[in-house]
This record gives sequence, C-alpha cells and structure tokens, in this order.
Amino acid sequence: MPVSPLLLASLLLSVVVTSQGHAQANARNSHSPSQAALAWNPVSDPAVDIFAAAQGAAPLVLSRNEDEEIAGSSSANHTVWTPSLRRHAGDLYPQRRTCKKHHKGGGQSGSDGSSSDAADGSSIGSGSASGSGSGSDSSSGGPPSSNSGWKLVTKHQGKTFFSGWNFWSYSDPTHGIVAYQDRESAISKGLAYVDAGGNAIMRADSWTDLEKGVGRPSVRIHSKKTYDEGLVILDVNAMPFGCSIWPAFWGNGPDWPNGGEIDIIEGVNDGKVNQYTLHTSQGCTLDPNSDFSGKQLSTNCYALAHQNAGCAIKDANVHGASYGSALNAANGGVFATRFDSTGVTIWFFNRNRIPDDVKAGQPDPDRWIEQGLKPSAQYKSGTCTFKDYFYKINWIFDITICGEWAGGVYASSGCPGTCAGRVMKGENFANAVWNVTYVKVFQQLPQ
Ligand SMILES: *[C@@H]1O[C@H](CO)[C@@H](O)[C@H](O)[C@H]1NC(C)=O
Ligand SMILES: *[C@@H]1O[C@H](CO)[C@@H](O)[C@H](O)[C@H]1NC(C)=O
Repeated sequence: MPVSPLLLASLLLSVVVTSQGHAQANARNSHSPSQAALAWNPVSDPAVDIFAAAQGAAPLVLSRNEDEEIAGSSSANHTVWTPSLRRHAGDLYPQRRTCKKHHKGGGQSGSDGSSSDAADGSSIGSGSASGSGSGSDSSSGGPPSSNSGWKLVTKHQGKTFFSGWNFWSYSDPTHGIVAYQDRESAISKGLAYVDAGGNAIMRADSWTDLEKGVGRPSVRIHSKKTYDEGLVILDVNAMPFGCSIWPAFWGNGPDWPNGGEIDIIEGVNDGKVNQYTLHTSQGCTLDPNSDFSGKQLSTNCYALAHQNAGCAIKDANVHGASYGSALNAANGGVFATRFDSTGVTIWFFNRNRIPDDVKAGQPDPDRWIEQGLKPSAQYKSGTCTFKDYFYKINWIFDITICGEWAGGVYASSGCPGTCAGRVMKGENFANAVWNVTYVKVFQQLPQ
C-alpha cells in the first residue's frame, strides 16, 4: 500500500518534533538569568548560519511573537513547525553563547547556591567517576558488589536522595511555562521531598492557580557528580504525565553537543511510548549491528544534522508500557543504561521483569544479554569511539510544562484548549510527579 503524503508528512514531523525534545534538552543546560536578559538577534547569530549551512537553507528571521506563539501553542500545527530551522537556532543560541560561563562552581550541573551543602551523602567510593561532584562519601550502600564485576559508586536513595543533586533555578532553556525552584524553595513548597516510604518525590505545584503566562513552580535537578562511563539504574515508581507536561530523565555532557546527550526517559502530553535518543558531536551514527526491540526513527546522532533529531529510538512497549500513565499503572519499572566503550545500551524492565541481579544490587548487563533480555535501545560502538563522544555526563531529572515540544504538539496530541491556558489551573498538575525508588551508578571493576 502506498504511503499517503499526509502520513509521510506526519512521520517527518514526528522526527522533527522529537528532535526538539532534545534541542531543548541541549539548551536546557545553558540558560541563566544573565543569559535570559540578553537580547537575541538571530540574524547575527552564528548558530543560525551553522544550521543554515547544514541544511542548505537561508537563515530565518525570527520574531519574538512567533516564539510566544509557540509557547502558547494553541495554533501549533505543521505549518507552525516548519521550517524547523527557527527552533534550532533558538535552542542553540544560548548554548553557544553562554554555555562556558556555567562551568565555574556548579558548572552546567546547575547551581542553587547550596553546592556547599552537606556532602553528597549518597555517594559511595570515588570509583572512577570523574567526580566534579564533591563531598565525603558515606557508605550507606554497603560493600561494593563484586560478583558481577560492576561496583556501586553512587547511590541516590532514601533520606539523602537530594543531597547528591543541584537544583536548577534558572529559566527553562526549552521555553516552558515553568518556574524552576532552588533547593530551599522546592523543599519548602513541597515540590521535592522523600516520602514516608523512602521514595524521592519531585513534582510541579498542583495547588496554586496562576495568571496566564506565569511559570508554574517545578523542579529540575542535576547530579553533582559527572561520569565518563557506567551503568545507571533508575527504579521509578511513577513519572509525570498529562497534557502540557514534558518530563525527562537524561544525561548531558559539559559542552553540548560535545560530551553528548543521552535521553533515557522522555515524552510529552499523554504519550504512552518512551523515546531514547543520543545527540553527539559529528561522527556517530547508529551501528546497524545494534540489536534492540525499539523502533528506530533516525540514525545520525550528530546534533547539527537533521534538525537535531539525533539518533532516536522509540520503545516498542513489547514488555509493557514504557511511559506515562500506563507505566504508572504498572507501578513503573527499571531503566538501566550502560554507557562505556561498548556503546550506549538502554534496557527497560517493567516491574515484573526486573532481573534478580538488579534486585540484589549486583547488576550484570552482559548476563542480561546472555539471558536474552533485549535492550529497548542500543547504540553499539563500531561507528564511533564512544569515549570521545560521551564524557562528564550529569544525570538530570526535570518536569517542564508546554515549551517547545509539549507546547508544540499540544493540540495535535488531542489536548483540550491551549497549553498556556492549561498551565493556569493547579489541579491539572496532580500527575506531574516523579516518584523514584533510587538512582544507582555502577562502574566496572578493573579486571
Ligand atoms: C495552522 O497554522 C497556520 C499558520 O499559523 C494557521 O493559519 C492555521 O489556521 C493553523 N491551522 C490549524 C488547524 O490550527
Ligand atoms: C511513591 O510510590 C510508592 C510505590 O508505588 C508508593 O507507595 C508511594 O505512596 C508513592 N509516593 C507518593 C508520594 O505518591
């Protein structure tokens, strides 16, 4: 059967839109109040020219109003989204201009002025984490697991969960209608806490009604430590979902796209399918020998190619829902991400399928492969040397609202009214909640 032009158009659109899920992600690490105050002149922005050259297109002139229209999003449709050059230029701008400024202190890992607060009580041993994060190590995690050859180097769990993270309190680089809170405010407003069962809760405010255009208080945290390799295991009970809501759990290098970006959980609105994506500097493509259950959307990981679609893979949900309300209804699960010289491999295990070695705190990804536990996404080394493309990665949780991706596809996702209108009512955000059992990082013991 021939593919209809409409279907084709929407497929293409989904890749573009997807990409911005990331473009934004990149930009996500780049904003600060001082940058926000800078006036952007896209015509003289070299980033625009870079994209123009990459796409064989002329630079576009962007108007402020157009950007606001996107943020408001009620009229967002295919027309609004093309050409995508505008969005990417906008995303890149703060990054290219100002990213380096953030490397002092908390660096791109965000800073809330509290980086001097008590040591990262949740980290265990210094391992080979590149460790921009500091702090004395407590040994709340018990002895290193040695059976699998992987050693626990950091554990974020229970009462000390938040001590290992910085709170990002700058504006949202992805232009969400959101007000990220510093640590003190997030805690005092009840937006970040550890519940009675020891689960870490991060959420958007769902009890305050706001004037139109006012950012809804929410949370974005960056791990204090950075990593050049490892196995990151997230056990999540529930994740944010719903119209206008755009959550992510992802990793980001120091100088996007150098250092790379690894998107582990990401989606928007009422999506039911998770999307995995890498964004890199030039030279990485998806190795055709990779073996995974997800659906490949794009193969070039280079951030400046193809509207920054990156190399994206959608979960095929073969082992249950990987995203949103359906994931939550199944009590969540485990996302395990291995990144090292072998490449980047991401497994999603629903709660009934979590390997025993993960439960025992001695994960062995080689054994998972031997046991036929196929990853949802895999990017094998072969086409590029991963250590050159992924380094000094911070892990990040965030919940933004509307903005480039969720706002851009708001209406086409079947969401009611306008995205900006949606933000005003607190009760619409009852489900904008991350509920996390733990994040653990393991590294391989030297042979
Ligand atoms: C799509 O966008 C165009 C340009 O902004 C607008 O004229 C048109 O009315 C929109 N269509 C829908 C269905 O929203
Ligand atoms: C977090 O998830 C756990 C496990 O499902 C649940 O028992 C707990 O009540 C949740 N916490 C909140 C604040 O919803």
